[in-house]
Amino acid sequence: MHEQPPRLETPAWTRAQTAGIARTDDAVAPVIYPPSTKTDPDYHVWDTWLLRERDGSVATPGGYRVIFCLSAPAELLPGKRHDVATIRYFYSDDGETWHRGGVAVEPDEAFGSRQWAGSALLDDDGTLYLYYTAAGFAGEEELTYTQRLACASGGTVSVDGDARQESGDALSLDGPWEHEILLEPDGARYETETQSRGMTYTFRDPWFFEDPESGETYLLFEANTPVPEGSDRCGGDPAQQEFNGSVGIAHSPTGDPTDWEFRDPLLDAVGVNQELERPHLVVDDGSYYLFISSHVHTFAPGLAGYDALYGFVADGLFGEYEPLNGSGLVLTNPANAPFQSYSWLVYPHRDELLVTSFFNYYDFDRPSLDDIALLPDDEQLRRFGGTLAPTVRLGYGGEETWVKGTLSHGHLPVTDEELPPASFEERYGSREEVEGEY
Ligand code: FRU
Repeated sequence: MHEQPPRLETPAWTRAQTAGIARTDDAVAPVIYPPSTKTDPDYHVWDTWLLRERDGSVATPGGYRVIFCLSAPAELLPGKRHDVATIRYFYSDDGETWHRGGVAVEPDEAFGSRQWAGSALLDDDGTLYLYYTAAGFAGEEELTYTQRLACASGGTVSVDGDARQESGDALSLDGPWEHEILLEPDGARYETETQSRGMTYTFRDPWFFEDPESGETYLLFEANTPVPEGSDRCGGDPAQQEFNGSVGIAHSPTGDPTDWEFRDPLLDAVGVNQELERPHLVVDDGSYYLFISSHVHTFAPGLAGYDALYGFVADGLFGEYEPLNGSGLVLTNPANAPFQSYSWLVYPHRDELLVTSFFNYYDFDRPSLDDIALLPDDEQLRRFGGTLAPTVRLGYGGEETWVKGTLSHGHLPVTDEELPPASFEERYGSREEVEGEY
C-alpha cells in the first residue's frame, strides 16, 4: 500500500469549521434567469459531467467536447425525476451550444432500476469507461435505494466529419458495452444500507482520478462512515451520529479502470453532514482541491449551511484537508433564490476554476425544498430549470476562492479559449485608479 501513507484518523470536516459558513459576496453566485433555449427541450437535465482523459483534462475527440447528464422526460414532475434517471450525452464544438447525442447508458443493459451520477473516461487507447451509480435493481417493482458503483466499458467514440452537428450524428458513442458492478460497500470503511441509521443513505457518484504526483489511479465516491449505535462518536449523541457523510476512495493496483480496492475515506463529516455529494478533485501545483455538493437539510442538528459547493485543500491526495475559506463554503445561491442551482462540478481553466451546475428551482425562496410539493403540478414544472446553469468563474489561491463572474448557461470552455475580463477591476483597473482620473 505504498500509495497511501499510514494515518491515524480520517480528516474531518468539523462542527467548529462549519460554524463559519456565511453568504459572503465572494461565495454567492448571481441570480439565474431562464435561458432562451434549454439544453434539451424534451428532457429535464440535471447532474452533468464532462468526458475527460486519464490525466483529468477535458477530452475533445474530433474537436468536440462531450457532456453526460442525468435526464428524464420534460413533462415529468421534476421531483420524480430521480426515479427514472437515464444518462444521456450531448456534444459541442464551441462549448456553448449542445447537440443531442442520445442515451449513453442504455437502461435495459445497465445495472440498477435507474442510473445516477458518475464520470466518464476516454482512455489512451480510445476505450470509453462510463462510470455510474446503479440505484436499486433492474426490473424491481418497488423502487429500492440500494446503491452500487458500476461501469459500462468497451465502447468507443466516433466522429463523422461530414455530418452537421445539429443532426445529432456528428458524434456518437457506440458499444458493445460491458457492464459490471465495481464496488459495493464493505460495512467497515463504508456503511451498508442495512447499517444506515440516517435520513438518507449514500454510496454513489463514482469519479475517476489519476494522481499526477504518483501516477496512481483512483475512484472517488460519496459514502457514509459506519457509526454503530452506542458508539462514542459525537459524544455518544445518537441524533448527531446519524449525520455521517464521507468522501470515499478506492485504488486500482494495476491502473485498470475497472479494478478497485477500498482505501480509508479522504474526509468524513460525522456529526456534521449526511451527504458529501459528487466528490471530485482539481490538482494545482501540488495542492489538492477537493469539492463536494451538499444541502441545507443535510447538516446535523445545531448547524446551519446552504445548498452549496464546499471545498477543502491539502498538499497531498490523502490530506490533511483544510476547509477552503475557513468554513468550506465555496459557492452558494443568493438568499432570495436559495435553490436556483445544485450539483456543482469544478474544473480548472487557465488560472481560474470553472463551475458548472444545473438550473434547479427558481422563483422560489421558501426555506425548504420540500415546500415545492405544496405547489400545483404546473407551478412545480414552471419553476424547475432542468437545464445547464450559467458557468461560474472562481478565482483561487492557497486556501481561498472567490466568485469572479459568470459565463452563459452551459458554456464550458476548454483550455485554449481565452475568457473576457471577469470583473470591473480586470477590465478597467481598480476603482480608486479610475475615480482618480476624474
Ligand atoms: C446530486 C445527486 C447525486 C445523485 C443524483 C440522483 O444531485 O443526489 O448524488 O447521483 O443526484 O439524481
